[in-house]
Order: sequence, then C-alpha cells, then structure tokens
Amino acid sequence: MGPANLPPAHEGRQGEAAFDPDLQPPALVVPEPGRVLLAWRRAPFPVDWARAFGRSAPLHLEVGFGDGRYTVRRALAQPSQDHVGLEVSNVSVQRALARVRREAVANVRVAKAGAAFALRQLFAPRSLESITVNFPDPWPKERHERHRLLRRPFFALAASRLVAGGEIRLATDHSEYLAFARAEARADGRYGLPAAEPPDAVFETKYALKWRDLGKPLHYQVFRLDQPSDTHPSHLERPLHMPHAFLTGPAIDPTQLPADAKRVFPYGPAHVIVHEGWQALGAAEQVLFRVTVDEPELTQQVLVVALRRPSGEVIVRLERFGDPLITPAVRGAVHAAVEWLLEHTALQARERNY
Ligand SMILES: C[S@@+](CC[C@H](N)C(=O)[O-])C[C@H]1O[C@@H](n2cnc3c(N)ncnc32)[C@H](O)[C@@H]1O
Repeated sequence: MGPANLPPAHEGRQGEAAFDPDLQPPALVVPEPGRVLLAWRRAPFPVDWARAFGRSAPLHLEVGFGDGRYTVRRALAQPSQDHVGLEVSNVSVQRALARVRREAVANVRVAKAGAAFALRQLFAPRSLESITVNFPDPWPKERHERHRLLRRPFFALAASRLVAGGEIRLATDHSEYLAFARAEARADGRYGLPAAEPPDAVFETKYALKWRDLGKPLHYQVFRLDQPSDTHPSHLERPLHMPHAFLTGPAIDPTQLPADAKRVFPYGPAHVIVHEGWQALGAAEQVLFRVTVDEPELTQQVLVVALRRPSGEVIVRLERFGDPLITPAVRGAVHAAVEWLLEHTALQARERNY
C-alpha cells in the first residue's frame, strides 16, 4: 500500500522541467466579447468581464438561475448594467442560453460552474454590485446543512468580491433557510440586514410560481456589505508546465496490472480517487489512469498517462484531454498515479515535478 496522505505539491518537486511540448499546459484564452457562455476553464482568473461584455458597467451575479427567466428579465430592465449567471445544471444552462438568444439580450453572460468556485476564481476583489440567490436548494435535513449555499464561508468570500455596500439578495420559500442565512450573516459580522422590498419579478421565477401555487409564503432578505474585507482569497495560479514525473525501470507487464485497483488518496480537504490504470490499446507501453479529483469547491475527472519515451524513461503526466484545471489536488492525481505504478510495477521514481 502507498501512503495514506499525499505530500504537499512542492515537496515532491526535484527540478524544473526543460521545455517539452508534451508538457505545455492548455493556452489561456481571454473571453470573446460576443460569446454568451463563458469558457472559464481556459480564461485567465479573474475573468476580464469588461472584455467579455465589450464594455465597463456595474456587474451583478446571479447564482442558480434555473431556467434564466429572472436573469433575462432583470437584464432587459437594466440595460446599463451587466449580469453574470451561474448554474451547475447542464439542462438549465441550455434553457437559459436559448432564452438569452431568443430575447437578444446583450448584457448577460452565463457560466456553468459552482457558486463557491466561481465567486472565488472568476471575480476580482470588490468587483460585484450584487449577488442574487433565488430559491436556493434548501437542504432541509440537519446533516445536509453543509451543502447550503449561504453559509459563513460564502458570506466571507462575498465580503471580498462585493463592493462596499454591495448586496447579497435572497428569495426563499423556506423559513428555516432564511433564519439560517440570517444567523450565518450575523456571525460573519460584516453585513447589515436592512428591510427591503423584493424587486419586480423575483417572486415570478419558475420556483417562486411553484411555491406560490402551493400556498407557501415567500421571503426576501437583503444582506448589505457594510465592512468589506481587507483580505482577498487568491485566484488559482496557472502552472507553466503540466504536472509530471519521470520513472525508470523494466518494461511494464500489462498482465501484472491488477484488474481492481481503485485507490483513494486523501489530500487535505480533497480526495483523489484512482479508479483504475489500464494499458492503452495499440500502444507498446502506455498506461492510462482515470482519476476523480474531488476538492471542496470543484470536482474534476482527469486522465493521467504513463508512457515509455524513446529515451527509455517513463513519463507520468496529466493529459490535456478535458481541459483540466490544474489545482493542488490535480497535481495530487499525478502523484497518486506515480504511487500506483510504484506499487504495481518494478518502476522507480527518478524525478517528480508536480
Ligand atoms: C430550486 S432551484 C431555483 C432555480 C431558480 N433560481 C428559480 O427560482 O426558479 C436551485 C437552482 O440552483 C442550482 N444550484 C444548486 N447549487 C448550485 C451551486 N453551487 N452553484 C450554482 N448553481 C447551483 C440548481 O441547479 C438549481 O437550478
């Protein structure tokens, strides 16, 4: 068995990689002004929203926009302001994109990304006027409270990304969620909770109408940022090369690779799961690893490849396939594949760069 914990990324580093085309990370691409769906995996962080919208204007965020009807109505009603919508559901993203095109709205951009990840990575400190959350999933069971969006860590992050006086605006049918969010904001200590009238259309989202038809009371709460944060959670730095390692030793015997070799590596608050390694068809000596990298704000499926180079050494590297975002635990995926090979083959590690 390999180690229970992966080392921090820098501990394994034993040398800088020379230029090698196989190790070039995906090139970063600044967002094109006309594109509604943001290709954030390749975008420099934070996103240059002025470029993405083709102008500088006050910026608003909506999290979990569902079918996008509120996003579009608000954007049409506020043509001098720019609106970014986040969603995790593919179907919702497609519906909202269709709506944006149908209504020919110029001031909406959409990203398929989770709220905590996107708020941290896509937005600069003090760049957002407001964050709207309409009818967030309530996660009513106590043991599921940690899945709720408006928890203290979210208020803390928002205290960096919102402008002074910026607002988090919550609409919910769930009185316990309302009480929970109020308590979390008060515990953060930087927000005022002014009385506020719900804006037009906020109680006419798809979910609002559903809850209203069921006779549920609907609530609206504004959290106003009175004391903006002086500290700003950093944006992910993009590496200059793909994480990799060099191994030496005898040829990998594919018949010796275990059929069931799933391994889970805890990595701080993250997990790296190596599902299996298998010999790639047609390749003389090449093993592909399918790996899930589960971090608190982002889960990714990545491929790591090990292949014998003409020089005789085996390189183990992250594949560019799927545009993985190279986070600390994605570096850990390469480490996990190296450990897997050390365990199941006679190879030895010569150099680790991850
Ligand atoms: C109950 S629905 C409300 C949809 C819409 N706001 C409305 O009022 O009709 C909650 C939405 O939040 C989305 N969602 C859940 N967690 C999210 C997250 N972490 N980031 C972005 N969207 C999320 C879900 O996919 C879902 O579409």
